[in-house]
Amino acid sequence: MRDYKIAPSILSANFACLGQEVDDVLASGADMIHFDVMDNHYVPNLTIGPMVCEALRKHGVSAPIDCHLMVTPVDQLIGDFIDAGADYVTFHPEASQHIDRSLQLIKSRGCKAGLVFNPATSLAYLDYVMDKIDMILIMSVNPGFGGQSFIPAALDKLREARRRIDASGRPIRLEVDGGVSADNIAEIAAAGADTFVSGSSIFKARNLEDANRYDGILGRM
Ligand code: DX5
Ligand code: ZN
Repeated sequence: MRDYKIAPSILSANFACLGQEVDDVLASGADMIHFDVMDNHYVPNLTIGPMVCEALRKHGVSAPIDCHLMVTPVDQLIGDFIDAGADYVTFHPEASQHIDRSLQLIKSRGCKAGLVFNPATSLAYLDYVMDKIDMILIMSVNPGFGGQSFIPAALDKLREARRRIDASGRPIRLEVDGGVSADNIAEIAAAGADTFVSGSSIFKARNLEDANRYDGILGRM
């Protein structure tokens, strides 16, 4: 069995009490925190920056933080997020002028690096950089918003990404992001994913009366 990881996207958390939300979701069994960074330029939405990542670290969050950069340009923010405590930094190849340089920048700081593939973006971007990749993130929605429906064509893309990872022989994580829920996660895992981002499904499932409030959904994932 693969080493599966659940990465709740805090895009769907209550930002008025973010530290508590992150503590609760980790206490309920989440493995890492998915941190969606949007710039109202590369994607039509605006979210959170490195100060919020740093604040989570100061709050005491020790779990891996997986920073998904939906920004252009990317290079300046790569350093800022690593300084702020990111463990993974992933970016969209279309958003970087020099993909290899951006990957090297992440790796040179001892951080794990990944490329993110929109629904219509070809995996061919991986052809010459597999040796610098620690994570491949397959978008199963168009980036920008939580709460969208899973695009089924992502399953074929996951299978193709899994083939490439297995052929590389490298320990690359295969992450999926968008519309993942307890209802479709088994099918997504069967297509080869091992790291599951889920925002609205997890945060909508909380039971505010219950201390282990995310166990209901995390237990089924
Ligand atoms: C979308 C983001 C996702 C999003 C997932 O651009 O990258 O991480 O928050 O949310 P759900 O699980 O609600 O589709
Ligand atoms: Zn994301």
